[in-house]
Formats: sequence, C-alpha cells, structure tokens
Amino acid sequence: MDKITRVDIVEEIKSRSNIVDVISRYLNLKKTGNNYKGLCPFHSENTPSFVVSEEKQIFTCFGCGATGDVIEFVKRIEHKEFTEVIEKLALDSGIEIKSNKSSVTETKKQELYAINREAALFFYNNMHKENSIGHQYIVSRGILPSTIKKFGLGFAEKKWDDLYKHLKEKNIQEKTLLKLGLISLKNEKYYDKFINRIIFPIINTRGKVIGFGGRVIDEGMPKYLNSPESILFQKKFNLYGLNLSKNEIQMQNYVILVEGYLDVISLYNQGIKNVVASLGTALTENQAKMIKRYTDNVVVAYDSDEAGQAAANRGMDILFDAGCKVKILEIKGFKDPDEYIKAKGRKLFIESINNATPFMDYKINTLKKAYDLSNMDQRVEFVNKVAQVLKRTKNYIEIDAYVDKIANETKISKNAIKLEINGNNNTKITPAIKKEKKLNIQTPNDAVERTLIKLVLNNGDFIPKVTDLGDIFLNHIHKDIFKMITILYQEDSEIDLAKLRDSLFEEEYIEILNNIIQHIQFNGKDSIVFEDCVNKIETDRLTKRQNEILEILKLLNEKEDEIKIDALTIELLEIQNKLKK
Ligand code: UTP
Ligand code: MN
Repeated sequence: MDKITRVDIVEEIKSRSNIVDVISRYLNLKKTGNNYKGLCPFHSENTPSFVVSEEKQIFTCFGCGATGDVIEFVKRIEHKEFTEVIEKLALDSGIEIKSNKSSVTETKKQELYAINREAALFFYNNMHKENSIGHQYIVSRGILPSTIKKFGLGFAEKKWDDLYKHLKEKNIQEKTLLKLGLISLKNEKYYDKFINRIIFPIINTRGKVIGFGGRVIDEGMPKYLNSPESILFQKKFNLYGLNLSKNEIQMQNYVILVEGYLDVISLYNQGIKNVVASLGTALTENQAKMIKRYTDNVVVAYDSDEAGQAAANRGMDILFDAGCKVKILEIKGFKDPDEYIKAKGRKLFIESINNATPFMDYKINTLKKAYDLSNMDQRVEFVNKVAQVLKRTKNYIEIDAYVDKIANETKISKNAIKLEINGNNNTKITPAIKKEKKLNIQTPNDAVERTLIKLVLNNGDFIPKVTDLGDIFLNHIHKDIFKMITILYQEDSEIDLAKLRDSLFEEEYIEILNNIIQHIQFNGKDSIVFEDCVNKIETDRLTKRQNEILEILKLLNEKEDEIKIDALTIELLEIQNKLKK
C-alpha cells in the first residue's frame, strides 16, 4: 500500500477512484451520450434525473438538486462524516493514511472514550444494584427496563469518591479525570463530580460515550450537571439520542426535536424513536446540519414555558435557514413532550405531530397576536412584518398562497402585499435586460440568471466567464440548466439544443429553457449584456453587505467597539462609493 499524508489524500482519492464505479455500487447507471443516468438515491422518483459525468467526476440530480464529487456522494449515501468517507475510500482504493500528529490525538481520544465507557458501566451497574434509589426514581418516571438498557441509564450513589476510587484502581490519572469532568479538586482532595444523580450517558453516532448528564432525584440544585466541553464533548456538535434514532429518522423521514434528556427517553419509551434533544442549549447550525444528514423534516416540540417557546422560535429559524421543512408542535396546557405523551398516549401524540403547525403559519400567527387587526395602522404594520417573514422563503407558490390568505384577512390588496415582499430589493433593471420583464418571472434575480443562460447559449465563450463569477444562480432550476450547459459544452465545445433538452428530462426545466430561448432578446452586444449582468450581481451583493453593516453598526457600542466601528465605517464608505458609480 502507498503511504500518503492526509493533506494530499483528497486529491489522491479523487484521482484513483472513478465516480462511475463508486456510484454503480449503489445504483444502476445507464450510459447515455457521454454521461451516465440513473434513479436518484436522494429523493424518490420514477424517471431518472440523476446524471453522472465521468469526465468531470461529478454527479448532479436535476430532480432534487443534489450534486458533488465522489466524496460528497459517499458522504450522503452512507450518512458519514468527511473523515470517515476519506478513510473508507482510501481503503477501497489501496491508499494507506500515514500516521501523523492527528492520529496521535486519535489514539489519545480512544483512550478517553474508554475511560468514559468504564464510568458509564460503573454508573449502569449502580442503577441495577438491589434497592437502588436511582432505579426507583427512574421507574417512578414510567421508564421501562428495556429503555433503561437502550440508553444505558445509570446512577451515581450518594458517596463522595466512589467513581474516583474505582477509576484510580484502573491506573487512570487524576489529570485525565479532571479534564473529562468526572472528578473535581477541592482542598487538595478529589471528589466525584456526579453524586446522587441519575446518569445519562451522551453517546455519539459512532457509539462512543462522549459525556454525561446527571439529574438530581430530588428538588436539589442544579437540576442537571453536564460534562464540561472537552476534545470528546462539544455540545454544539451533538444531539442527544441521535445514536439510537438515526435509522428511524431516516425511515420515517422526519425527526422530532425536543429539549430534554427525559423527553427523548419518554417518547422512545412509548415507541416513538425518531427523536433527538438539543441538550437544553440554543440549537446550532451544526446541529441543523447533523439533522439534515438524515432528513429535511423537523417537528420542533419544546417545553411550553416561555423559555422553551423562545428557544423553539430561534431553533426554527436556524433549521429553516439550513433548508429544513420545519413545523412546531404546540402543547398548550402541558409542561413538555414527556408530560404530553403521558397524558395523551402514543396514538394521540402522533396525531398531534401530524397536525403540527408549519413554520410560516406559526410565524404569522405569532405576529397576529401582536397586532390589533381592527386598526388600519396596525394592520399595515402587521402586513409589513408578514412580508418580512414571507421574504425568507424562496418558494413562490407558498408565498402566493399566504398572500391570498393575508389579503383576505386584512382586506389589504394582494398587490400591495406582494409589492412589500419584493419592494425592498432595490433592483434597477438595465435596458439590456428590460424585455425579460414581460415574462412571468418571480424574482428580479431571475431576470439576470435567465439572461446569462441565454448569453451562454448564444456564445459559449461566456461559459467560463459566468463560471468565474462563482455561485450566482439562486434559482435552482437555472443553476441546473447552466450546469448542464457547462457539461455539454465541455464534451463537444458547442451546445446542441436538442441534446440539452434531452438531458434536462423534467417538463418544468424544459419549459423554462424554451422560455429563455424564445423570449429573451438582447438590445445590446453580448459583452454589454454580460457587463450589465455582472453589474447587477455586484450591486446586489454590495447592497446586501451595506444593509448588513448598517445592522451591525446599530448593535455596536460606541466606546467598546471603536475599532470595529471604524473598520465597518470605512467599508461602508467604500461600498457607497462603488454603488454611486
Ligand atoms: P428540563 O428541566 O426541561 O429537563 O431541561 P428534562 O430533561 O425535561 O427533565 P424533567 O422531565 O423536567 O425531569 C431541559 C434540558 O436542559 C438541560 C438538560 O439537557 C435538560 O434535559 N438542563 C436543564 C441543563 O443542562 N441544566 C439544568 O440545570 C437544567
Ligand atoms: Mn422538560
């Protein structure tokens, strides 16, 4: 085997493994022209829209927009992390990863995991001792023996240094135990961190014990103690229960997101296994990404108190922005999902989940409560706020439906609401792309994107120039059409329209393509049109950054943040100068 360092490994893997061979292990690919086609494994479909380019070594699905290289494919289909995929592909293609510093920390980590595992086992055995008060407590919460076992629930007895002595016997150093947060040092003596508490081992998706939560069994404080952040345990990169629920989440294609350890355990206990908890902190983008490896559909079921609802609100925003379809389960009259399912039973609980409130409805309902809709001024204010919310979705059919609804409720005209939604974009439509206005386009940026597509169809020389602009297509259909054009162009150095239509499969795509071909006409020369588009994109980018800076400036403190304020002000001036031009 060839030895190679991690730095070069990605390139090496890509050059050694053929994406067509790798993907063929998972699905049937048929050769069509220079590419391969098959049924997309990332969404359900009956006609193939999944295209693999052997030459470019990438895959693209024109149905769901999935795209990437061989590493991305394996990551998605196996639900693995980047490093795991690298290891797997390296092994498959006969590359041995040279041991270097990072594998030293890897060994160290494995040792720490082993210590945590030993501690978990110790707590677990305590839980099962005769007359264990931990066991009595957990049974009083209605938790079945099989659930205790699944989650490895344990108990830390009311002794001062029980675990410390046990691990000391195994020759584990105090320094290590302190770092893992299993013991603490006080007056030159070592004490157990967890005393008289139910222990919830936190286990990652690779089955390693990364930390612990400990709950009091009385009214003591604090209610929970958690392991400190360490190289094993970073709260923001973990979701409690995901190790047990990931398969079920994928199968059911949705996840129930709760706040607490006991909410997860209680639902699981009743056979609802597609559940995870965010461990009582604000949900992070990383956690949203972890969820998205298994499903896009999230039902947020946080506690009903004010803190819980505020956290739900923030969490939903993060999930929404990460591209999830979010709903919220409102459990008025009950404290948390645990109490709710105990009162209602499994069947009614699932029914409520199925009837959970979609993100947009929830946001609009919340606004509705804040305004008096019988008052004209407040009604206008309400519509403005709703427009802000609706702006966040790129789904124009959805926007339309809500606009109808809001117009009906407020007696404010649909057009006025739509204007409010589209209004603040500050788009100047330049002469060269004016014609597009007549078409049924949905966003100002659509016009630019379609113009660019027409441009590259007219003149292939512009393909690299558009590619150089970076990720500029916001509309995913436009993005896919452009990508297909690029692929075809690289095959033949010309665009055969029939071939392009052929590769696009979906009606919707072909319709848009035809629309572009028939209706977009330039008044100017190609190069002027291109410049117009570039200017428009740049203007949008600058305007966006300008607004961002203005928002940040509002939040900064004149004295404390002087340096930051200066830097931002200079940037702002530069932007405004550029915008003037
Ligand atoms: P809860 O107080 O709702 O806990 O806090 P719970 O898990 O639902 O437990 P019960 O049913 O009330 O007994 C939600 C989560 O917030 C974190 C824990 O992760 C907990 O599961 N938390 C809470 C802490 O980390 N520390 C605390 O002191 C309290
Ligand atoms: Mn709770």
